Amino acid sequence: MKFGFFDDSKKEYVINSPKTPYPWINYLGNQGFFSLISNTAGGYCFYKDARLRRITRYRYNNVPIDMGGRYFYINDNGTIWNPGWSPVKTELDSYECRHGMGYTVITGKKNGLKAEVTFFVPQNYDGEVQQVVLTNESKEAKSFSIFSIAEWCLWDAQDDCTNFQRNFSTGRVEIEGSTIYHVTEYRDRRNHYAFYTVNDDIDGYDTDRDSFLGSIYNGWDNPATVKADKPSNSFADGWSPVASHYKKVTLAPGESKTLIYILGYAENPQDKKFAAEKPANLLTRETWVLNKEKAYAMIEKYNTPEKVAAGLAELRSTWEDLLSIFNVNTPDDKVNRMVNIWNQYQCMVTFNLSRSASYFESGIGRGMGFRDSNQDILGFVHQIPERARERLIDIASTQLSDGGCYHQYQPLTKKGNADIGGDFSDDPLWMILSVAAYIKETGDWSILDANVPFDDDPNGKHTMLEHLNVSFYHIVNNLGPHGLPLAMRADWNDCINLSCFSDTPGESFQTYTNPKFKAEGGYSKIAESAFVAALFTYTGPAFVGILEHLGKKDEAAKAQAEIDKMKKNVMESAFDGDWFIRAYDANGEKMGSKECEEGKIFIEPQGFAVMSEIGKDQGADIKTLNSIDKYLNCEFGLVLNNPAFTKYYIQYGEISTYPGGYKENAGIFTHNNAWIICAEAYAGRGDKAFEYYSKIAPAFTEETSDIHKTEPYVYGQMIGGKDAKNFGQGKNSWLTGTAAWNMVAISQYILGVQPVFDGLKVDPSIPHEWDGFTAVRKFRGATFNITVKNPSHVCKGVKTMTVDGKAVEGCVIPVCSGGTHEVEIVMG
Ligand code: BGC
Ligand code: NOJ
Repeated sequence: MKFGFFDDSKKEYVINSPKTPYPWINYLGNQGFFSLISNTAGGYCFYKDARLRRITRYRYNNVPIDMGGRYFYINDNGTIWNPGWSPVKTELDSYECRHGMGYTVITGKKNGLKAEVTFFVPQNYDGEVQQVVLTNESKEAKSFSIFSIAEWCLWDAQDDCTNFQRNFSTGRVEIEGSTIYHVTEYRDRRNHYAFYTVNDDIDGYDTDRDSFLGSIYNGWDNPATVKADKPSNSFADGWSPVASHYKKVTLAPGESKTLIYILGYAENPQDKKFAAEKPANLLTRETWVLNKEKAYAMIEKYNTPEKVAAGLAELRSTWEDLLSIFNVNTPDDKVNRMVNIWNQYQCMVTFNLSRSASYFESGIGRGMGFRDSNQDILGFVHQIPERARERLIDIASTQLSDGGCYHQYQPLTKKGNADIGGDFSDDPLWMILSVAAYIKETGDWSILDANVPFDDDPNGKHTMLEHLNVSFYHIVNNLGPHGLPLAMRADWNDCINLSCFSDTPGESFQTYTNPKFKAEGGYSKIAESAFVAALFTYTGPAFVGILEHLGKKDEAAKAQAEIDKMKKNVMESAFDGDWFIRAYDANGEKMGSKECEEGKIFIEPQGFAVMSEIGKDQGADIKTLNSIDKYLNCEFGLVLNNPAFTKYYIQYGEISTYPGGYKENAGIFTHNNAWIICAEAYAGRGDKAFEYYSKIAPAFTEETSDIHKTEPYVYGQMIGGKDAKNFGQGKNSWLTGTAAWNMVAISQYILGVQPVFDGLKVDPSIPHEWDGFTAVRKFRGATFNITVKNPSHVCKGVKTMTVDGKAVEGCVIPVCSGGTHEVEIVMG
């Protein structure tokens, strides 16, 4: 069952029922100011940091779900409705929500009145613009009223939902004309404020939530002021400040009126915090006056429909440019819309927000993950390489000089987060991969010379190359009894906690280490990760390639020897006959082996081992891929492990706490499905690669949205696996490494358009039925129009390649300094 459709020409998903199986959201904003907006206009805004600068309030885990956002209420002679249906939930005569690239348009119609609301955050602007176009489509004149409402968060979202004894006595506002200012704590220690304005005179307002609602026992679905068609002109004094404008409108038949609301944020320098004079029309209970110059300028910027249209046009052209860098035309529309639109869009959102703020991430829990942000770059780097470069330097600066890493850092301070600490065994390797991806995309080798400090030597002179070096050797220097990397506190799978042995509620699996490992340095010196071993052999060659390019022959040979040794160790101790084991636990027992009672096979090490060609000469790659198909493949994707754990294994930790089929315990964890898609493509099995891709790619799940529940235009972290009661049900949509990895899987492995150090490789691994495809790829200043022909209907194999009519040996397009070039590839 579907709840909408893709409008590819506009790059929009159009939702035609407000009752989606879960709120289907979009993200507005791309730089400092961000909003989450659902298809019924629920959600919230924040500036840069969803915890420390939360602008509007949102209640997670609320009943009913998604109550709270920015709402418009219309009172049309006693019929009260919202353009986005919620919160009043009056049945609308028609409803539509269009989620586009950085904007959302929600349109409702009732009794001949149409309200179309466009929400967006303009480029380089710290505010959300909401343009409301009211049209009388009836044959009679209409008089009605419109109320706006936004509920302020008292800035720190964590404190806002816990520290009520203080917070209920701190709220402050100012009102000037049609603008309501939120100035809680401004006088004392803050220099930022927020405002909500409308570009017209108003007929009343409210700034105190309970006065707007009329009773503390009323909800957003039943505000007394709206019902009475009479604002209470309240002035907030503590409790919960809000901003609501009241406006009476009369429209002749066919007439329209446009109102532009702006929800903005601004900061003042310390010496310009206050205005010298108090304007005559200012409503305040303070003795000081906010300096509103910045707000005035922001309001001026978008106070007419023409200016709003220009802002929207600028936003659209920004996205056109971003999405023009890589574009494909394949025989499958769903692939085209994923690659050309939604997957790239999601990559930008994950790059911006890491794992911080979504409908499943409360914005107060997590900073930027070291491994997460490095992986996000893989899907995003071609869009804005300059921002990727800056991010790489920020991340690397939180690394320690021995190669260890802080697992997370805070976006506002850019400092490693001491609460969670380090010792996650996989972290350093992702940085090699992301820096290599950046160089392969841009050819900017100078990043290796960039001065990047270590967290424990902030003033020292160190280069990015040194960071890569300590990352590589952090693995080599921390091997266990079988010569495999120590698992430490966890590897990519945060829920395999081999040093926890936790039996007490409340101990965080991510931060708790059993005292018995304390003396050993905080984690078991027995537990080893075969996944990190395979990631090392997959990533290592990029490091070797970098050293070779720099002419460091001996160092390259030394690193290569370590990779070869690791492959040997894996074959000796971690190949189980038909697949690779997952780990050795702290008791020295195999995990993810035939010998195990449950969890006999895990997905994670397999793809990287296959792509590293570990044991290829003995057929290990094909045996492994066949085992995945046999044991992990099911209707909705590949489960993470099989059989699911049905007991608590204290030696494994969190993974065995989830009911079977959910999350890391045999859920379909889409992130690592991508690694298998890549591996199948690498092995030349394009049909299988595509089968797995099409099981999880959102556009392909659209038809089963009722089962899948989450948005059909973006990936979620997890889909209920075959052991789950809710098999096929998606969760944790939007902020997941799946976005980047599936972008890599489809673009670089299946379509095979892959940046390499010395050019652009094109080596597709596609379904054999395809006649071919075309692609446009901008790469290092040149544009390549690529045509792939598949006359013999093979899955893989480049028979000939020409660039501008000239034959090229192999399948790498050499770097061109500029211009547009025709590339033709014949498979066979
Ligand atoms: C979740 C993981 C997550 C980890 C760290 C675990 O509870 O299952 O997916 O990576 O917490 O926040
Ligand atoms: C989500 C986390 O963000 C990511 O870092 C981790 O690898 C996966 N969960 C798997 O546990």
